Amino acid sequence: MSQPFIKVENVSYSYDEEINLIPAVSGVSLEIEEGSYVAFAGRNGSGKSTFAKLLNMILEPSDGKIYISGKEIDVNAMTDAELMETRRNIGMVFQNPDNQLVATIVEDDVAFGPENLGVPSDEIRRRVDDALKTVGMSEYAKSEPQRLSGGQKQRIAIAGIIAMMPKCIIFDESTAMLDPSGRREVVDMMEKLNREYGITIITITHYMDEAVRADRVIVMDGGRVVMDGTPEQVYAEPEKIRAAGLELPQCAELVCRLREKGIKLDGCCITPESCAELICRALEVTSNE
Ligand SMILES: Nc1ncnc2c1ncn2[C@@H]1O[C@H](COP(=O)(O)OP(=O)(O)OP(=O)(O)O)[C@@H](O)[C@H]1O
Ligand SMILES: [Mg+2]
Repeated sequence: MSQPFIKVENVSYSYDEEINLIPAVSGVSLEIEEGSYVAFAGRNGSGKSTFAKLLNMILEPSDGKIYISGKEIDVNAMTDAELMETRRNIGMVFQNPDNQLVATIVEDDVAFGPENLGVPSDEIRRRVDDALKTVGMSEYAKSEPQRLSGGQKQRIAIAGIIAMMPKCIIFDESTAMLDPSGRREVVDMMEKLNREYGITIITITHYMDEAVRADRVIVMDGGRVVMDGTPEQVYAEPEKIRAAGLELPQCAELVCRLREKGIKLDGCCITPESCAELICRALEVTSNE
């Protein structure tokens, strides 16, 4: 039987047990398959970023175990080389693009990660070119990052991660500071990296319309996982979504409101296409009656 890429077993994390009676992450167990596209949603303070930092080994669990590719993450038992290799395999893109760009020229910025890994210089050149091409920013190789738009800056940050050739990229609210077109650029990039390159994508987002693009949605509340399923399954339970402090995706919200007005609609829908289909079906039934 194939092993999951990430396996989390009863993991908890407290920043300061004296002050925080409720741990930031509390008894979380889950598995993430290689090549999957998973969205984490949850109200402010529900533990999403803490959980992401545990996966990325910025933090160590207070309790429980994490396995990456079948190997237990134990900072004390792993060699430096093993730790570096595991860290390299899980890249992270953060919220503020300005905090992630370190160089004054785009291509130097993308080269920064592989340089730190000790990759030979001709190989770095190839990786930088490939990474910029993947994010559609080749023509900006010699540009100054400060001159780019928010979406373009995030794409450069993503290129810097891709150049380290990770198996997984975690996006922690990486679209939160962007305008709608910047958000679209970054979400399209996540989808491309997942579908075309097989990179496991974990995205943390407050935008439900972004979460529905994933194959799986995990909802956290109070440090725990409270919902876990396909977007269709998760958004078919509006009461639970609202209890977790979240809104429904726009299409699901529309269907909910129509139901409240007495229009009979069966099933859940999360995309404009499925929404249109659902409403058409209801109209046909009505017009035939
Ligand atoms: N550095 C820290 N020191 C102490 N407590 C922290 C720290 N970072 C987070 N916390 C607390 O841990 C809990 C979980 O926070 P976390 O940042 O993981 O939530 P989140 O779901 O990412 O929230 P947001 O949506 O606001 O980003 C919260 O109660 C928060 O106040
Ligand atoms: Mg957060």
